[in-house]
Amino acid sequence: MNTALQTYIDDCRAASCACPHAADCVQALAPMMLDLLKRTGDFLEEGHRQSDLDGYTRNLIHATPDGDCSLYAIVWRPGQWTPIHDHGSWGVVGVVEGVLEERNYVRTDDHHDRDEGIELARGGVILLTPGTVTTFVPNPDHIHLTGVSQDREPAISLHLYGRQMSNFHVYDAQAGTRRLIEVSHNES
Ligand SMILES: [Fe+2]
Repeated sequence: MNTALQTYIDDCRAASCACPHAADCVQALAPMMLDLLKRTGDFLEEGHRQSDLDGYTRNLIHATPDGDCSLYAIVWRPGQWTPIHDHGSWGVVGVVEGVLEERNYVRTDDHHDRDEGIELARGGVILLTPGTVTTFVPNPDHIHLTGVSQDREPAISLHLYGRQMSNFHVYDAQAGTRRLIEVSHNES
């Protein structure tokens, strides 16, 4: 693994271990992502830039053996969006190229552990440009959808999570339901 990337992963694991609360963890990790974004030329390979006409593409850069940390490069073609989802983890996101749009939701019912009877209120929109870092924490989970508008250039973003991000809840705002889905990724 590239030295800068290995140092970043090691620093992130040390910071997350030292921070029992997720909010403290992302507070410590956000500046590290800001620095990592300045060095993407050193470690982002062609395999991390894979895209797919059928949907946004999650390219795994590194996952720790014990599953407590994972880093992905996600490639978004114009018009590609996630469904409404949560994460079950803290996360740190940094934009490498393009404009990534985030549309937020707030869960307003009082039963956050239930998969039905979910009430979602639409929240604000954030446009994330290259060099921008954003973070989120769980409990209650951050619920949003992200993607790139049809009229914009493709985007690439780095996503660091406090677990192996192999599944998450997808929400149906109209039906007021959510379901846990398995999600795939590319490995280079
Ligand atoms: Fe997300």
